[in-house]
Amino acid sequence: MEKEALVCYWSRTGNTEQVAETIKEALEENDLNVTYKEVKEMEDDDFLDYDWVFLGTPSHHFLPPKPALKTLQSKLNTYSNEGEVKLCAPDRPDKKAAVFCTYSGPHTGIDEAIPVGKYLGQFLEHIGFNVVDEWYVIGEMHMNIPNINTEGRLGNIKGRPNEEDLTRIKNNVEDVLEK
Ligand SMILES: Cc1cc2nc3c(=O)[nH]c(=O)nc-3n(C[C@H](O)[C@H](O)[C@H](O)COP(=O)(O)O)c2cc1C
Repeated sequence: MEKEALVCYWSRTGNTEQVAETIKEALEENDLNVTYKEVKEMEDDDFLDYDWVFLGTPSHHFLPPKPALKTLQSKLNTYSNEGEVKLCAPDRPDKKAAVFCTYSGPHTGIDEAIPVGKYLGQFLEHIGFNVVDEWYVIGEMHMNIPNINTEGRLGNIKGRPNEEDLTRIKNNVEDVLEK
């Protein structure tokens, strides 16, 4: 039977959306049936209906953006009330996930993104997904802050994510599907 995959993302300026679209295309090329949704749309959907979940947001002040956090926290409360958040968070057989985060890292680099990936991963692990990978993708900051895209910790990040970044994500998808 065809595996059901969910690609779920939050994006304000399009960087995370580009990564999400790349993941969707790579999954479809590998014959998965893909549902593509923004985080907010999950208010009326169930992560547990999918065999594979790919969940991603940008870093805002080194956390997931507040609207995405709000939705995920509310979902977690619901799962908890339904008894789906179990002690020791046992893996559900055949439920796998990967998380992704785009970030600009102007101050401390990738450390501004890792808490985001960990949060998203923890959300999914608490409901029994086996999180097999975390992808951190540099994204240009579309904000009018002088030199933010040229003089931060990561140097010149104009145009990111670029073709190379997106090809890496496509390859990552193919790798995790073999896990
Ligand atoms: C309000 C705001 C806060 C941000 N805070 C951070 C941050 O703390 N660390 C970081 O690395 N990038 C930060 N960024 C940059 C974004 O994470 C980055 O540009 C990301 O790729 C944007 O994704 P999007 O285009 O999908 O919205 C921030 C951007 C915005 C708009």
